[in-house]
Amino acid sequence: MELKDKIDLNNLPQHVAIIMDGNGRWAKQQGKPRVFGHKNGVQSVREVTEAGAEMGIKYMTLYAFSTENWNRPKYEVTALMTLLVSTIRKEIATLNKNSIQLKTIGNIEMLPKAAQNELLEAIESTKNNSRMTLILALSYSSKSEIIDAVKTITKNAVNGKIKIQDINEESLTNALYTREFPDPELMIRTSGEKRISNFLLWQLAYSELYFTPVFWPDFRKNHFYEAILNYQNRERRFGMTSEQIDRTKS
Ligand code: IPE
Ligand code: IPE
Ligand code: MG
Repeated sequence: MELKDKIDLNNLPQHVAIIMDGNGRWAKQQGKPRVFGHKNGVQSVREVTEAGAEMGIKYMTLYAFSTENWNRPKYEVTALMTLLVSTIRKEIATLNKNSIQLKTIGNIEMLPKAAQNELLEAIESTKNNSRMTLILALSYSSKSEIIDAVKTITKNAVNGKIKIQDINEESLTNALYTREFPDPELMIRTSGEKRISNFLLWQLAYSELYFTPVFWPDFRKNHFYEAILNYQNRERRFGMTSEQIDRTKS
């Protein structure tokens, strides 16, 4: 039986978030420059996107560039931005063919104009697709996102649009960049690092975290299926006891 066939399609996460990590180390292992790793990571993006859409995952968020990544050497940042533009351009047709809608979260205005334009075009061109929403986190920082949300809420409070005593989880959720998307049930990080790196801090509050040593450019559909199967073997208790969970199941 193939790995894929073991997946219970009635118990899929609606939203999977991925920290695509390890491109640099993957390249270094082969004596190649870091950028070679980034280029090879594109195939992994294709594979997980396709695997997710085929299986029936509704939302997939890929951490492609963090606010902190701006501090990398200039040539690496430039190479990543160039790769972003060329990849989006190349993939629009496939996204449309597979009915995948593209969205972004993060401080998109920080990106070079060419990348912004390419993204806007892709978002517009895929906006009516309904099979899966692919969300690229670009120039993204979860702490900045939360600060922006606090600013929005504070402004509404000062203007009398919301009462302070009415501020709750929902108001904050609705002020985040991710307001249109449900929280990820599963977060995958490749490359063996076990940290969140300023990614979706609020949204991951109750997500299952899956860490794999596989470097991102080596990540294939089967690795994705393994992560989904691992998720399906977990018991999500949300603070309750195992017995309570069993009772709600029966
Ligand atoms: C992830 O791979 C890609 C980005 C952060 C843009 P890295 O470039 O972080 O690769 P490592 O972690 O240095 O191996
Ligand atoms: C996180 O990876 C950001 C992305 C994958 C885009 P990093 O490689 O930048 O994270 P740290 O610095 O190791 O925590
Ligand atoms: Mg890294």
